Amino acid sequence: MPNSFDPNSLLPDPAFLDLHASGEQSGLGEAKEDQKLEVPSRLPVLPVRDVVIFNYTIMPLFVGREASALAVEKALSGSRYLMILTQKDERVENPTAEDLYDVGTVVMIMRMLKLPDGRIKLLVQGVSRAKALSIVQEKPYLEAEVETLPEQEDVPTSVELEAIMRLAREQSERILSLRGIASPDITNVLASIDHPGRLADLIASNLRLRLSEAQQLIATTNPVERLRKVNELLSKEAEVASMQAQIQESAREGIDKAQREYFLREQLKAIRKELGDTAADEDDDTEDLAQALKKAKLPPDAEKEARKQLRRLKAMPGESSEATVIRTYLEWLSELPWEVLSKDRLNITKAAAILNEDHYGLEKVKDRILEFLAIKKLNPNSKSPILCFVGPPGVGKTSLGRSIARSLGRKFQRMSVGGVRDEAEIRGHRRTYVGAMPGRIIQSIRQAGTRNPVIMLDEIDKIGSDYRGDPSSALLEVLDPEQNNTFSDHYLNMPFDLSKVMFICTANVLETIPRPLLDRMELIRLPGYTQQEKLNIAKKYLLSRQTSENGLKPHDLVIDDTVLNRIIGEYTREAGVRNLEREIGSLCRKLARKKASGTKGPFVVDEKELHALLGAPRFLDEDLEAEAAPGVAVGLAWTPAGGEVLQVEVSTMQGKGGIQLTGQLGDVMKESAQAAVSYARAQARKLHIDPDFHSKLDIHIHVPAGATPKDGPSAGVTLATALISALSETPVAANLCMTGEINPARKSAARGWY
Ligand SMILES: Nc1ncnc2c1ncn2[C@@H]1O[C@H](COP(=O)(O)OP(=O)(O)OP(=O)(O)O)[C@@H](O)[C@H]1O
Ligand SMILES: [Mg+2]
Repeated sequence: MPNSFDPNSLLPDPAFLDLHASGEQSGLGEAKEDQKLEVPSRLPVLPVRDVVIFNYTIMPLFVGREASALAVEKALSGSRYLMILTQKDERVENPTAEDLYDVGTVVMIMRMLKLPDGRIKLLVQGVSRAKALSIVQEKPYLEAEVETLPEQEDVPTSVELEAIMRLAREQSERILSLRGIASPDITNVLASIDHPGRLADLIASNLRLRLSEAQQLIATTNPVERLRKVNELLSKEAEVASMQAQIQESAREGIDKAQREYFLREQLKAIRKELGDTAADEDDDTEDLAQALKKAKLPPDAEKEARKQLRRLKAMPGESSEATVIRTYLEWLSELPWEVLSKDRLNITKAAAILNEDHYGLEKVKDRILEFLAIKKLNPNSKSPILCFVGPPGVGKTSLGRSIARSLGRKFQRMSVGGVRDEAEIRGHRRTYVGAMPGRIIQSIRQAGTRNPVIMLDEIDKIGSDYRGDPSSALLEVLDPEQNNTFSDHYLNMPFDLSKVMFICTANVLETIPRPLLDRMELIRLPGYTQQEKLNIAKKYLLSRQTSENGLKPHDLVIDDTVLNRIIGEYTREAGVRNLEREIGSLCRKLARKKASGTKGPFVVDEKELHALLGAPRFLDEDLEAEAAPGVAVGLAWTPAGGEVLQVEVSTMQGKGGIQLTGQLGDVMKESAQAAVSYARAQARKLHIDPDFHSKLDIHIHVPAGATPKDGPSAGVTLATALISALSETPVAANLCMTGEINPARKSAARGWY
C-alpha cells in the first residue's frame, strides 16, 4: 500500500538522491520552491484508483491503462509534469470528469521504467497541489485545465500553532513507538520541518488514511487547518495503534508460552543431531518399547502400570536421568516371560532314561522326580514341590538339579545363595534407589526366558543375615507355594507368578538352614557313596566323561577295578566323588600328553603305572594303635565329609585335680569332659578306682588332629572310657569304637551304643 506508514519515506529516498546527483530534473531543493515552478496550465491527467499523493512525497506508480500510458508519454515529451487526480470509485475503468475528484497534485516524473508485461513503472514526486478547473480533453487521454494551489508560506507564528505542531510531532512519535519502529532519525526529520502545511503533508502521506480523508486533507488549503485535521486523525490512529499493540501483546504472550517450549525442543533436537547424538530418534525407541511390552503379554494390572510409565516416558526429555530409569524399568517388564511356559516332557520312561544317563544310583531322588512327573501328568495344575538335597560335598546335588531340568525339558538356572546377606539381593531394590535392579530370582527368570524353569538355590545352608536385612525372610515368600504366585520384587513393584517354578535347594548340613525355610522344603538326603558305589560311578560315568573331555578315545585308557579302587582309597578321601573325578581327570591329562607327543595307545594303567602318573598315594589307612594302651579310647565322629574315627587320649599326673583339655575342643565337648570326670568319681568304687583321684591328680585330655575343631556331645562316652582306662590302668580293646553321650547321674552311664 503506498499509503502505509513507511518510516523510510520520511528520510531522503535513495532513488531520489540518485537522480539529484546525476543532474536530472527535480529534487528536494527545487520541489520546495513550488511557487516558482512553471507549471503549464494544461496538463495530461493520470487518474489513480487508490492513492492520494501529497505534496513533496516521492512515490512509485504503476500505469497499466492505455489512456494513462499515453498521458505519461505526453508528459515525458514535454514538461514532465503530470496532474494526478484520484478516482472517486476505484472500480471505474475509463474515468471521465465526473469520476474524479477535482483537487489533486501536480507531480514531476522522476523516472520511468517499461516493465516486460507492458506496464509502466513511474517514480513521481509531488510538486504542487492543484485544482483541475475543467477537463478539456477526454480522448485518447485526459487533459485538464489546471490551477496550482500554492502553499501559504508565511504562516504567522503563535503559541497555538506551536502547540498544534508539537502535538502532531508527539503523536507521530508515539504511534511509531507503539509500532516498534521509532528511531532518532525520524524524530530529527519531524523536528526539522517548521512549516505546518509541510508537516501535515508529510505525516498524512504516512498515515493509513481512507481515500475520503486523504482527499479532504489535500483539498484544505489553509496549512494550519490542515495540520489540525491531521492531528485529529493522528489521535484516532494513536488509539487504534495502542489498542492494536495491546492485542498483539496479549496474543504474543499466549503464543509465547506454548511455542517457546516447542522451539526450544526443536532446537535441542537439531543440536543433538548436529552432535551426532542418537537420542534424536528416541521416538522410535519408545515405539519399540511399546511394541515389546505388547508382545510380553503383561497381566492386566501390570500392563496398566506399564502404560502409565510409558506415557510418562514419552512426555520426558529423552536424556534425563529419570527417563533412563523408566526406560530400563520398562525394558525389564518387556523382557520378563510373563506368559512363556516351556512344555514339560511328561514321558516318564524317557525322563527316567535321562536321569540314569547322568547319575549312578540315587534312586530315591530319581523316584521322587518321576513321581512328580506322574502327578503332573494326571493333574497339570499340581503344585511344584520344593526339594532340598542335603549331603556332603561332591555327591552330585548340583549336577542332579541340572539333570532334573533336562529330564523335564525345562530351563535350568542355578543361583548360589551362599554368602548372600542382603535381602535386596533376593528381592531387588526399590526403583528410587540409584542403580536399582531386580533381585536374583527375577533375574534368573529373565535369563531362563520361561516362567517355569528349574531354579536351584545352591548352598542355602550358607545364607547369611546381618543389618542389611535377612535374605531368608525374602526366600520364605519365594518358597511358599501359597504365596509365591504373587511374589513381589521391590524393583518391579508388581506381583510375578513364581508358582510354576520348580525350586530345588541344596545344603551340606541342615543345622544352619533357618527353621522356617526348612519347614517349607521336602528333604532328600544324599548320604555319600560307599567304595563300591564310587567304583561304579567311576566306571560308568567319570571315566568316559574325563577321557572325552581330555580328547582321548574310550579305548585309549585301559584300567581295571583294582587300580580304580586304589585311586578311590589312596588318592581320595571323601563322601562324594569330586576328587575322584579330579584324579581320573589328571590321569587322563597325562595320557593325553603322551598321545599328543606321539606314543600310540591304548594305555594300560596298572598299579605301577598309577604311581608313576599320580605320584605317591596321598592317604594311607592310619593304623590304629595295634597295641592297646591304657588311657586311649576310639570314638566315632561325624563330619560333613563323612564318618571319622577319633582317638581320645588321657594321661594323669601328680597334681591337685586340674583338668586340661587340648585339641580344639568346643564348649559342648568340654562339658562332656567334665561330665566324664563326674561320672568316674560317682562310680569310683564300682569301677575299682581311687575315689579321691580328683584331688591328687591332674588330668590331661587330648584329642589328636588338633587343628580340626571338634564339638558335640557324642564323644562323651569315649572321653569317659579313656579316663577310666587311664585311672584304672586297664587298656581298652583296640578294635572297639564307640559313640554316645554320657550322663553322670544315671547308673547306666552312657546312652548310645558301643
Ligand atoms: N551318582 C553320580 N553319578 C555320576 N556322577 C556323579 C554322581 N554323583 C556325583 N557325580 C559327579 O560328581 C561331581 C560333583 O558333583 P556336584 O558338583 O553336583 O556335587 P555337590 O553335591 O553339588 O557338591 P557341593 O555340596 O560341594 O556343592 C559332578 O561332576 C557330578 O556329575
Ligand atoms: Mg554343589
